[in-house]
Amino acid sequence: MNIHKIDLNRLKEFETPFYYYDLDLLDETLSRAKASADKRGFHVHYALKANFNARVLNLIQSKGFGADCVSGNEVQKSIDSGFPASQITFAGVGKSDKEIELALNHQIFAFNVESIQELLVINELAGKNNVKAQVSLRINPNVDAHTHHYITTGLDENKFGVPNSELEKAASVLRECENLELLGLHFHVGSQITDINVFKSLCVKVNEWKSWFEERGTTIKVLNVGGGLGVDYHNPDGNPIADFEAYFEVFDKFLERTPQQEVHFELGRALVAQFGSLISKVLYTKSGVKKNFLILDAGMTELMRPALYQAYHKIEKLGSTEIKEEVNYDVVGPICESSDCFGKEVELPISERGDLIAIRTAGAYGEVMASRYNLREEIRFVYSDEV
Ligand code: LLP
Repeated sequence: MNIHKIDLNRLKEFETPFYYYDLDLLDETLSRAKASADKRGFHVHYALKANFNARVLNLIQSKGFGADCVSGNEVQKSIDSGFPASQITFAGVGKSDKEIELALNHQIFAFNVESIQELLVINELAGKNNVKAQVSLRINPNVDAHTHHYITTGLDENKFGVPNSELEKAASVLRECENLELLGLHFHVGSQITDINVFKSLCVKVNEWKSWFEERGTTIKVLNVGGGLGVDYHNPDGNPIADFEAYFEVFDKFLERTPQQEVHFELGRALVAQFGSLISKVLYTKSGVKKNFLILDAGMTELMRPALYQAYHKIEKLGSTEIKEEVNYDVVGPICESSDCFGKEVELPISERGDLIAIRTAGAYGEVMASRYNLREEIRFVYSDEV
């Protein structure tokens, strides 16, 4: 079902480039994710880092999701967007004292702590502010996410989490920190994970570490298994919604837990990737010695993923319904970098100056990673209910 069909005629009048956000598709995606999680009693915190656009956050908050933050500004933004503090978590390897104090003052649900030194700092700042901090310990489980190495986080060589060799010490430090309450354990092994077996392997590790802590007399109330569910960037059939049922089912089946133990997730990409497209205009076409180039008015400054991770995004010419002659284009942007390329040898109907091009599945890690490099203009948006 193509629920994300873009009507060219309605978009023509807007100045390009811009992100087109299909709020109906977002609504549908969120409803499906929430229903699948609710039916299993799972809690989902939305990872703001994927997209913190105000309208997006309002919708996500209204559906009852919590917020997973990685900076003081994200914590503040969640509060301002109406997320209850009791549903806000704060993760990240490098939380500053100022950010920790901000989160303490808002009495957020939990800090996902990534080192022993961080435990001690939060304990000290909580004492200074006369509050208690709830913490989850992020464990690096050494599970290979089989994804791009830049977005793999759960291997021994990654900077994230407390390494296994330090856990004994972390457990004893926690017993001595009187301003901290240990809620549970936190894991996140990577992003854009499309092999469901990775999540099964994660469950095995979570079970092992949960038992390890319980054998040492520690009560684990929350098992936070992070995010990472991948999406289909090839859009065979028009922006397919991720299979939340299959995803949550793995954890339901393989995670050992008592009815009192809560299971938490931190999904970002799978909730917001498909509802966004970057819409751009062809500025010039050019036939080089070896290549045909399609030069767009959007570049790596608007969507950095292809330049940074060689990520694939489906590129479509809008409004080309009847079959015309196809050409292989290198689709590039205006930025002065050779990596400013959205796709090489992309088969597209013959295109000319002024045609509109859509770069799909750009709702996650698109707008948020935009930059002003080359003193580009600030990114613009068009929402589906405006056209
Ligand atoms: N929790 C933690 C601790 C994370 O580090 C992340 C993402 C998430 C949750 C959300 O993961 P998701 O469900 O979105 O996969 N810029 C990259 C992705 C970086 C992901 C960083 N961490 C990209 O464009 O692919």
